[in-house]
Amino acid sequence: MQQEDLFKKLTAHSKEYGYIFQSSEIYDGLSAVYDYGQYGAELKNNIRKYWWDAMLLLNDNIVGLDSAIFMHPEVWKASGHVDAFNDPLIDNKDSKKRYRADVLIEDYIEKLEEKINKEVGKAAKRFGDKFDEAMFRQTNARVTDLAERIGNIIKRFVEASEKSDLQEIRQIIVDCEIACPVSGSRNWTEVRQFNLMFDTKLGSVSEDASKIYLRPETAQGIFVNFMNVQKSGRMKIPFGIAQVGKAFRNEIVARQFIFRMREFEQMEMQFFIRPGDEPQWYEFWKEKRMRWHKALGFDENKFRFHDHTKLAHYAVAATDIEFAFPFGFKEVEGIHSRTDYDLAQHQKFCGRKLQYFDTELNKSYVPYVVETSIGLDRMFLTVLAASYNEEKIKKENGREEERVVLGLPPALAPVKLAIFPLVKKDGLSEISQKIRDDLRFDFSCQYEEKDSIGRRYRRQDAIGTPFCITVDHQTKEDETVTIRYRDTMEQERVPVGKLREIIGEKASMKKLLQSL
Ligand code: GAP
Repeated sequence: MQQEDLFKKLTAHSKEYGYIFQSSEIYDGLSAVYDYGQYGAELKNNIRKYWWDAMLLLNDNIVGLDSAIFMHPEVWKASGHVDAFNDPLIDNKDSKKRYRADVLIEDYIEKLEEKINKEVGKAAKRFGDKFDEAMFRQTNARVTDLAERIGNIIKRFVEASEKSDLQEIRQIIVDCEIACPVSGSRNWTEVRQFNLMFDTKLGSVSEDASKIYLRPETAQGIFVNFMNVQKSGRMKIPFGIAQVGKAFRNEIVARQFIFRMREFEQMEMQFFIRPGDEPQWYEFWKEKRMRWHKALGFDENKFRFHDHTKLAHYAVAATDIEFAFPFGFKEVEGIHSRTDYDLAQHQKFCGRKLQYFDTELNKSYVPYVVETSIGLDRMFLTVLAASYNEEKIKKENGREEERVVLGLPPALAPVKLAIFPLVKKDGLSEISQKIRDDLRFDFSCQYEEKDSIGRRYRRQDAIGTPFCITVDHQTKEDETVTIRYRDTMEQERVPVGKLREIIGEKASMKKLLQSL
């Protein structure tokens, strides 16, 4: 299946099965804003819990926080967001489409990298076991030429970004002959900066009101509470503060479903360390966060690191954990070495000391910070995209049938088990409901008695329910049921009394956390 088709199907599936709806859909929707439906809200809660518990339960030195969305306007001056939280925009005069200039350049670089990989792949096939990839990359004229071009573009782009030289950024687009994907023309406007923060007014009388911002990241709530948490919790460096909450960005090029939204949720953790210790903590968190992603059991080749060439105004080192979405490898999470930039800035702007007295070193300093920052919605999309499968299966009558299955990791699945009476009569419904009532304290259960068993299985497959339990006449005789496994479609007869253990073993968050 074409990846584009896959993405369209995934979007349609999310709506059909109550995962994601367009915001205010009955009024034709609000662009880049989405609501989570009955299953979406549960899946989101489970992903949030997986992150929160991995941070707080598994680390003695990380504590949580829930800071307000509105903050003093000076916060955003100190953090640099008022001056520097901009996207460079460019319009195509023919299609009237607007693009982020940096993304156009990054996509172009990615295409050149793909060309190199193709050359390497072809040569590997040609030379077989004797192929020396490193040597080939160093000596093949076409590859070295492409690599040199990439190096030059990156160098120009980084320099232009550092100097905020918008003319040069436009010139790179012109020199690379980048065309508008819609019109195919190279008829570009100038590049302009656009600040991404939403603002509103605080206070009821507009003339007296002061402008405040909807936070564009949750991290600043952590920085401004650094002293509060450190003192009240008697925290010793190194320690972390984690928080989950809404963030808002007036994204100009908002597309690709919930990948880029205007209102979204972030899960961020700031890890406060001694100055000088940042290289090892940066590596530590890179590795730890990648392990968190891979523990979900999806194809490991779909995750990779991508180091930033253009660093945000606060970072000295930054990498993304990228996932292979149907529209290519894209960022899910960022790991940033932020130095003492934020705390030092707040110290300057608020006029109070934001320092830690290190008893071992017998001195005070402004701690350095390594941050992990992941979008909850983007992680949701990662989980959905990695789980969505269309399969051809053979029915008992020999006919082929297609099933759509969401192979969600059982610990994250919104419904853990569905319980069906084989028929509605002979007391089977009552027995099924009794089993449901017994298990509902441990797992989210669903009781379903409409339609044939086959149709009930298909619906639960589409929702992503990992276990279906069928109660039949034999249950009345020996207190056993069949458990049907979503991924293999295998069925097994088991005692009712064993269900809690079997499902708990395979679907508990505890098991998932223990695997980290
Ligand atoms: N505090 C650092 C920070 O905010 P970021 O790279 O701008 O860094 C972190 O954002 C994460 O937040 C991203 O990796 C992404 O998962 C998520 N994110 C950012 N902008 C988003 C948007 N418009 N829609 C959905 N998720 C977004």
